[in-house]
This record gives sequence, structure tokens and C-alpha cells, in this order.
Amino acid sequence: MTLKRPRQATASTASLMRIFTVPEDATSTLSIIERKLSEDLAGFLGESIAVQEKPLPEIEADFSAFEIPETPRFVSDYTDEIMHNLVAHSVHTASPSFIGHMTSALPYFVLPLSKMMVGLNQNLVKIETSKAFTPLERQVLGMMHHLVYAQQADFYQNWMHSANHSLGAFCSGGTVANITALWIARNQLFKADGEFKGITREGLHRALRHYGYDDIAILVSERGHYSLAKAADLLGIGRDNIISIPTKGNNKVDVEHMRQVALSLAANNVKVMAIVGVAGTTETGNVDPLAELAALAAELHCHFHVDAA
Ligand SMILES: Cc1ncc(COP(=O)(O)O)c(C=O)c1O
Repeated sequence: MTLKRPRQATASTASLMRIFTVPEDATSTLSIIERKLSEDLAGFLGESIAVQEKPLPEIEADFSAFEIPETPRFVSDYTDEIMHNLVAHSVHTASPSFIGHMTSALPYFVLPLSKMMVGLNQNLVKIETSKAFTPLERQVLGMMHHLVYAQQADFYQNWMHSANHSLGAFCSGGTVANITALWIARNQLFKADGEFKGITREGLHRALRHYGYDDIAILVSERGHYSLAKAADLLGIGRDNIISIPTKGNNKVDVEHMRQVALSLAANNVKVMAIVGVAGTTETGNVDPLAELAALAAELHCHFHVDAA
């Protein structure tokens, strides 16, 4: 696709009004793209993504401007530029010759459903801006809870849609999920107790003093994702307190080794806050022996987190 000469657009109340009320013209660049996307996604990707890779420095040169443009532009002109600079040099993750275990082709139904999601523009922060989406979210969390914990029907009838309880939390990715889970584990370990108001109020230093530990640690396979270290950093636990345990075979953690490490930490008055099982290592996809790890966590009276990102 060649770039057309940019035309001069004007900023006015009328054009602002227009972009919220008048659909794109059927012959506009964006409408043509939208039609191709809906009718033949594979064809669109195949035609629009350049076969020959452009060297990264050349791509970077296309994105070298650092001042926010002062002059308004027509959407179609900007779309042309996007097709030329961005889409053409994207990675064709749906290509049959692309090898990648985390990002691949999308089923067709995702396109119209995602368009509907964008059009509805709900905000699940509050029921006032999400309505039916919040009950849907709670239902999906209930289903995932049931998959793991398999409680009786009355449990879900009581709690699934309770405004004051939550059976889980959706996170925007694996890093945020690991941080969230370990945050809960930390707060649960150092919950309010007698005079102590809990770590959320008094912080880690006083929590350690109140509970009588010299330090806390998190145990995970050497194949654990680096986001766990970020979580330890952010939660005030410290990256060095993520203890890496060797794997035994097939990139699965050595549970007996983990037990020995936990015992020697306990002998030094270091409390194991959580053990983490990896359910699909990033590099190899191997799953740790989760049932054995769950039993070890019960034995150590610590939180068991599974990173299934
Ligand atoms: C096992 C595991 N945990 C956590 C993450 C982090 O996920 P995200 O990149 O969504 O933050 C990844 C990402 O590859 C992962 O493989």
C-alpha cells in the first residue's frame, strides 16, 4: 500500500460532533479494512503484513517523532499510515508457519464479539457503568472457582453474586495475577491479631516483630517466571527471598528438595509465606507436581499459589 499525500483537516465543533455521530463512509479506507477483516481475516492478514521483514532500526525511524502533532488529521489518512508503518510490519501470529506457544491465530467469533465489547464500552469498576457485565464476571469467577474447589450448589448460590464477597479477581495478565495472589498470601499471613492491626495497616517491619519471624520467603521452581521476583520486590519481601528450587526431571520442581529448604529456613526462623507451583513453565510448558506441592503447603501451613499464566 502506498501512502497518499496528507490533506489538511480542520478542528471544529462540527467535526468533533461528526466523529461521534456519523459512521465512516462505506468507501473510506477504514470501512474497506473493516469489511476485509470481517469477511476474510486470514486474507487480510496475509495481504497486509509484509512478507519481507524490515530491519528494526528502519521501523524505529518510522516512530521517531516525539512531539504530539498540533494539526488535525483525517482518519483515513492516519489509517493509511497505520497500514503502511504498523500493520505491514506486525508479526503474523496466525500464519501457519509461525511457531509460538503463547500467541496464535484467533477464532473468528472473537472479532465481532470484541467489536461489540468495544462498542458497549463498559467499565466494571462499578455496577453503575457495567450492569449485566458485573454478574457475568461473577459467574465466570464462580465457574473457575468451582473448577478448582468444587463446592456445593448452595455455596455458589450464597456467595457468587454477593456484593460483599469475591470468589476471585480478574487480572490483566500473569504479572498482575502473581502480584495479586502473593499480596493476598502476605496479608493473610500477617493478618490482624490482638493489638496488631495487620500488615495492611502497620507494614512488614512491625508484622515480623509481632509474629516473631526474622524473615519470610517464597519457594518456587528454578523455572518460575521472573514476575514472581517483581511481586516480592513490590510487596516488600525482597527479590532475594524468592528461593529458587532445582528441578528434578522434565523441568518439574523437586518437591523433596523444596521440603528440605523449607525445613532449613524454619530452623533459621524464616517463615515460608507461600510456595508457588508452576502450571506450564514459560519456556517448556511443563507442569509441576501440583498435588504434592499442595500437600507440602498444608504441611508447612503456608499459602499455595499456582501460576497458570
Ligand atoms: C508462567 C508465567 N507466569 C507469568 C507470566 C507473566 O505474564 P504477563 O506477561 O501476562 O504479565 C508469564 C508470561 O509469559 C508466564 O509464562
